[in-house]
Amino acid sequence: MNIKEKLKENDFLRRIVKKHKIRKEFLADFNDFNNYYNDSGLITIQTIEYKILLLVHSLEKGMCNKELRAFGTKKIKDLINLLNQYIIISDKKYSTPFMMGCSIITEWLKIYDNNNFEKDETYKLAYDFIKIHTNSKDIKVGAFEYSTDNLIEYFETDYYNFLKSRHSVREFLNKPISNDDIEYCLNSALISPTACNRQMIKIYSVKQKNKKELLNKHIMGLSGFEINSINYFVITFDISAFSFYGERNQGYFNAGLVAMNFVNAMHSKKIGSCFLQWGNTYKEEINIKKNLDIPENEKIAVVIAAGYYKDKTLVPLSQRKKIEEIYKEI
Ligand SMILES: Cc1cc2nc3c(=O)[nH]c(=O)nc-3n(C[C@H](O)[C@H](O)[C@H](O)COP(=O)(O)O)c2cc1C
Repeated sequence: MNIKEKLKENDFLRRIVKKHKIRKEFLADFNDFNNYYNDSGLITIQTIEYKILLLVHSLEKGMCNKELRAFGTKKIKDLINLLNQYIIISDKKYSTPFMMGCSIITEWLKIYDNNNFEKDETYKLAYDFIKIHTNSKDIKVGAFEYSTDNLIEYFETDYYNFLKSRHSVREFLNKPISNDDIEYCLNSALISPTACNRQMIKIYSVKQKNKKELLNKHIMGLSGFEINSINYFVITFDISAFSFYGERNQGYFNAGLVAMNFVNAMHSKKIGSCFLQWGNTYKEEINIKKNLDIPENEKIAVVIAAGYYKDKTLVPLSQRKKIEEIYKEI
């Protein structure tokens, strides 16, 4: 028996070695994240593009506001700076994110014109920028009225059209989701694949007022929501399912698969939804799990806000990239 085999036979030693490997790999993840995350200081086409996309999304959300006021001047200024940086380093190959940036400025200018908002120096900056950088007509950005009138038409076509008809919505009918509909969506979530069929994903439907209030308080991305109409679902994964360092990120991935099936099933039942990113600190998560009666061995992957669609609601257009920007044969 060689040393490796001997080690494997000894539970205590085997676990010490595994613990060391888990630490090493998590540390490597930490280094990757720290070196490459969007605010790491690296200036590349990619970091600029993601910054542009964030600003476009934020401005689109602003445009969904039913009572439009003059808004977004700081964001427009930042966006113009980023687009100018992009032009310098991109060799004039304009990508979808770049074109989305130009289009959102055009939309913003239109809003200012149509509402006779006061035209300050940012308006002039934006106007001059767009005069030089024409935006592409097929890159549509901004807000649009999402109406349930068209849903049946989409549902009766093919899978792609069904998927395309889903949009994240941030206001819902003020009525509870029926038990039959929840059961249908849970069954759809249950048929999602999970690694080795270990089914480590849990879904918590948050019903109690104090628990909802806790989420209202702690979830970061709730701007633009009609808070009182939200039904919350918390998606967690159970760490106990995983057996070695190579599975350290499996929980989030598996949760994503289950959550997407859950959300698409909801859409088929005319239940709108929006994922809410779990961006809280470790300490906050511990506290929230305790208050929601979620066991310590589970991690929160994502939260879903949901409810029956209103007949009409304003949503961001959320334009997508082109196939060649995300797909490569290697
Ligand atoms: C993991 C994840 C986290 C998200 N977090 C938030 C959030 O905190 N607040 C929010 O308003 N939207 C959130 N969204 C919704 C995205 O903004 C939305 O999916 C994206 O803009 C594309 O639009 P669509 O879902 O309408 O196609 C999240 C989406 C995902 C997938």
